[in-house]
Amino acid sequence: MEDIAQSREISVELKGKILGLMFFEPSTRTRISFETAMKRLNGRCIGFTSSGSSSVSKGESIADTAKMFEGYSDALVIRHELEGVSKFISDIVDVPVINAGDGAGQHPTQTLLDLYTIKNEIGSIDNLKIALIGDLKFGRTVHSLSNALSLFNNVKIYMVSPPELKMPQEILHDLNMTNVEYVETDNIEDVIDDVDVLYVTRIQKERFLDINDYLKIKGAYIVNKKMLEGKDVIVMHPLPRIDEIDGDVDDTKYNKYFKQAANAVPVRMAILKTLIKNNPK
Ligand code: CP
Repeated sequence: MEDIAQSREISVELKGKILGLMFFEPSTRTRISFETAMKRLNGRCIGFTSSGSSSVSKGESIADTAKMFEGYSDALVIRHELEGVSKFISDIVDVPVINAGDGAGQHPTQTLLDLYTIKNEIGSIDNLKIALIGDLKFGRTVHSLSNALSLFNNVKIYMVSPPELKMPQEILHDLNMTNVEYVETDNIEDVIDDVDVLYVTRIQKERFLDINDYLKIKGAYIVNKKMLEGKDVIVMHPLPRIDEIDGDVDDTKYNKYFKQAANAVPVRMAILKTLIKNNPK
């Protein structure tokens, strides 16, 4: 896989290929890094950035929309607010489909860049101790990351959330089935001395049915420089950040979240090369 410096060299790997970006839900990093990755490989992108700018807003179905993109593109990247939409589309089209986040479900390519960042920063994913902090109920990145960590040896996961936002039972079930050790707590201080990575997440305001439920737990966890001082830990975040990492962490050695976001380009270049170049269609 390319590193960041190598990924800045334009390659001709996907010359003439077109990536379809179907973003029904807002995105900065995922959409732009996929677009950057495709362009670094000399391919091109088409697509829309919201339901409102597609004919879905006139009542066209997701299935018909996907069928159009199948005819125009060599692979599709889908983000949607409903769980399972990417899987549904992958069942009805004949080009590779990448899930770029499906509601409170999964975000698998984010996990690949998270693992790449951990490996680069810490040296190994085996024997990792990681705290997943914040909205573990609706946060799709921590669902995918938990599932992926079960593929490594001797990983311990601390799940830090308010009681209302605990990790879903189906993810815990998967961890139980693969014998991954995990601990649930609502207190960062319980775990901060014992972890290699603090993986902080935003409370997903848009997934709450009642805004008052969000307001009650908004700001429940804020990681700041003082908490980190003297600790052998790195701070990651899939971003966007609202208030859960104080700005005073940005200029410290603990901050790996901007590097993590930049790692999206080489990782997504590798994903696109694997899926498009090796696809006979
Ligand atoms: N990490 C992530 O998915 O960010 P965006 O929502 O900006 O794509």
